[in-house]
Amino acid sequence: NLIKFNLIKFNLIKFNAKFKMYIFEFGFDVAEKLKKLEEKNGNFGVKKGEILLKKFPDGEFYARVIGNIENENCVVVKSIYNSDELVKTILILDAVKRSKAKSIMLVAPYLTYMRQDKIFLDGEALSAEVVLKNLKNYVDKIFLINSHIFRESGEKTCYGIKIYNVDAFSEIAKYFKNLKNPKIISPDEGASDMAKKCAKILKCESDYLIKKRDMVTGKIVTADKNLYVEGKDVLISDDIISSGGTMIEALKVIKKQNPASINLACVHGVFCDAENFLMLRILADEGVATNSIPNKVGNIDLSNLIAEELVKNLIKK
Ligand code: R5P
Repeated sequence: NLIKFNLIKFNLIKFNAKFKMYIFEFGFDVAEKLKKLEEKNGNFGVKKGEILLKKFPDGEFYARVIGNIENENCVVVKSIYNSDELVKTILILDAVKRSKAKSIMLVAPYLTYMRQDKIFLDGEALSAEVVLKNLKNYVDKIFLINSHIFRESGEKTCYGIKIYNVDAFSEIAKYFKNLKNPKIISPDEGASDMAKKCAKILKCESDYLIKKRDMVTGKIVTADKNLYVEGKDVLISDDIISSGGTMIEALKVIKKQNPASINLACVHGVFCDAENFLMLRILADEGVATNSIPNKVGNIDLSNLIAEELVKNLIKK
């Protein structure tokens, strides 16, 4: 009888530990990946949320949750890669909040406006704080991927909001697992730790370049440095390619050193300068980004990484 009682008790605990959540996702496949993880971890009750999104003829957005999500845990997976996507996301979050969700988690693989996280010149606006404080009105926690506001992985509170930062460099390393004689180079010292992580996974060496940017003109200059890459398959990896100026400077230094191949990878491919984008595609043997921002080379899907991090964070707690 004691064994029977304990079995019932164990099953009740297991049942109570079930985490039920609605996933509202846009351009990702996290619910599907979570269902696959359920096979290993047991059922944690993942449901796909439904939302109606519309754009009015004048360009304004409209969002409405379909179905009852009252008192449910909700996760919104949506990249916020420009001002329009920011407004769209705020409307989605507002619709979820007004539908009386129990908790709201935002997974924003890319979050725009995070690069101005400090005041450099008198009179500037602090865009990172503006955006995060706004999102704080709706969400309990934000998951970011290689966020610019802090480089380390894990949880931190920024401007009063819990941020969980996930490093996607492991996904970049996996993508390049077939490079024969790799060496990882980061285009500046700031990204050198991430290059080291990649190098550890690919069991090779890493190094970094020294980059300087003029605060007013934005012009980038990278100093010459012997990186000992002759005959190597170089992978230049960075957290973000925006104008592409940093990568072009790095390519110029590395090309002179006769590597076997030059491959480029970044987590966030903004590619806001079309001419530079074309030049990078011509100069490099391969260039790839994750799908944190929709673009022609966003071939590394982050859905699985996001699903794994959600399991670590929410379900196993
Ligand atoms: C700098 O801190 C970042 O890691 C990137 O290197 C930088 O933002 C890339 O910008 P761009 O492509 O405009 O040179």
